[in-house]
Amino acid sequence: MAEPLIKLIDIRKTYKMGETEYQALKGVSLTVEKGDFLAIMGPSGSGKSTLMHILGCLDSPSSGEYFLESKEIGKLADKDLAKIRNEKIGFVFQAFNLLQRMTVLDNVLVPFTYSRIPRAEQMERANKALEKVGLESKKSNKTNQLSGGQIQRTAIARSLVMNPAIIFADEPTGNLDSKTSHEIMSILAKLNEQGNTIILVTHEDDIAAYAKRIVKLRDGEVVSDEKQKARTNMTTEKKEK
Ligand SMILES: Nc1ncnc2c1ncn2[C@@H]1O[C@H](COP(=O)(O)OP(=O)(O)OP(=O)(O)O)[C@@H](O)[C@H]1O
Ligand SMILES: [Mg+2]
Repeated sequence: MAEPLIKLIDIRKTYKMGETEYQALKGVSLTVEKGDFLAIMGPSGSGKSTLMHILGCLDSPSSGEYFLESKEIGKLADKDLAKIRNEKIGFVFQAFNLLQRMTVLDNVLVPFTYSRIPRAEQMERANKALEKVGLESKKSNKTNQLSGGQIQRTAIARSLVMNPAIIFADEPTGNLDSKTSHEIMSILAKLNEQGNTIILVTHEDDIAAYAKRIVKLRDGEVVSDEKQKARTNMTTEKKEK
């Protein structure tokens, strides 16, 4: 059996605020295989974002081990974490806003800022990513000339250009109406079918239904971890609330 893409062993995260401490993760162990599609669910404050930040190398755990492609990264310094983040991980976080005054194409090119990849290849990858999310016709638009769904698709295209090992999405459909949410999820499901590993956080059951597996957190602990039956035609299904 191949090594898992991600292996977390007894991950704990304690936030310190002056004298007081808060344990946001209380020993999370989790394995994610390449090609998986995981939805993390749980009540507000249960530790979902904290877990995503650790998985996405935006923050380090207080204790425990984190193996990414068999390499232990839980104890790396910030500088080394940043390198891994840039090379291995694509983010579709609402906090990572697009640059308003730039075009869709320029936003998708942002991850190449410090890259040595030749310009021609950068353009090729950016155009291919825009094609994957169906946004070629909007590539010269400024992002303030886009709909909510198109903004999110731009963020997905941008997350793809470095060919990341994993795509992380924290509430990728949070501000979108039901129809647009399902369009975005169809795109993510299609990317997963093409082999991309995806981990997302959502509060909504019908969004989580697109994932292959649902991990539920409560008070900083995994309380359930279940595979879902594959739902055929999910990517073409039209669902409205
Ligand atoms: N920087 C911080 N300092 C102190 N406590 C924090 C910090 N970040 C998060 N917490 C606490 O850790 C717990 C988990 O927070 P987290 O953001 O992971 O929750 P969440 O599951 O993502 O919630 P939501 O659904 O509301 O986004 C919360 O009780 C929160 O108050
Ligand atoms: Mg959160």
